[in-house]
Amino acid sequence: MSTDHPSASDLERFSDFYRQFYPSTWDSIMSGLLDPPRSIQRPNRWFSGDDSQEVDSRGIHHWFLMDRASATIPTFLEPRPGETVLDMCAAPGGKSLILWELMGGAGQLVLNDTSPARRHRLRSVIDSYVPSEHRHGIRITGLDAARIGQIHPDSFDRILLDAPCSSESHVLGSIKAMQQWSPARSRQLARRQFAMICSAIQALRPGGRLVYSTCSVCPWENDGVVQRLLRREKHPCRLLDAESPQGDKTETGWIILPDRHQAGPMFFAVLEKTGVSGQAGY
Ligand SMILES: C[S@@+](CC[C@H](N)C(=O)[O-])C[C@H]1O[C@@H](n2cnc3c(N)ncnc32)[C@H](O)[C@@H]1O
Repeated sequence: MSTDHPSASDLERFSDFYRQFYPSTWDSIMSGLLDPPRSIQRPNRWFSGDDSQEVDSRGIHHWFLMDRASATIPTFLEPRPGETVLDMCAAPGGKSLILWELMGGAGQLVLNDTSPARRHRLRSVIDSYVPSEHRHGIRITGLDAARIGQIHPDSFDRILLDAPCSSESHVLGSIKAMQQWSPARSRQLARRQFAMICSAIQALRPGGRLVYSTCSVCPWENDGVVQRLLRREKHPCRLLDAESPQGDKTETGWIILPDRHQAGPMFFAVLEKTGVSGQAGY
């Protein structure tokens, strides 16, 4: 029999796993994750039409729809005009657009993603929101995020690593994703995220800043990944204090939960590289 919702037994297995992390709040968190996404409309700084228009005479779009928590993530990276910035897992590009806005369209912004289909979408987002005369500093690449550190050590002023994750709101909304879900999958994702965060530290210039984020509520993929990185001498870095206008503090960063903050879910932590990794430059 086909239904629109995961089966009760799959849901129970899933909930049992998350209750170990959120013993008294899981039911509320889960109902927040099941709510329809609450997006905000962000005005595009490169749009030059009038208020009534959706698209200006150059084909540049007025509004970008995205989650309110997602929209704050690039601000914690504090990119500045003229810097060299990497968005390691960039597609479809909502956060990339904000990074480029914060950079005032000046400097180098490398947008990386391994998925060809998602890179195609990323290219079309950039073309629809950034006029051609302001696109010169943007490059799109398709490298494995876990290898960028070896390829380009000590190269970037700032890196955003918005990592692929369990994305529980997606799992809860999909029978297939729920059937494929298991704690082993989350553990495997945490291992991939750890390889990526080590690579990000390696790719940063000494003194450079990293924002690590996920849309997972699983602590293995959030604090767990950051804590493991902080224990590793090979990748010298320290946590920076961030003051988030929304969310709850965790051991290494912040988590924004839909049931409590009407946005997210989104976890983020802010780090600074404190040593040198290698010789080559970007
Ligand atoms: C959470 S999404 C990124 C969302 C994006 N930052 C945004 O705000 O629009 C994670 C992305 O990581 C990409 N990805 C998965 N594995 C990767 C890898 N090994 N290296 C680089 N990108 C990867 C996926 O294709 C996906 O687009």
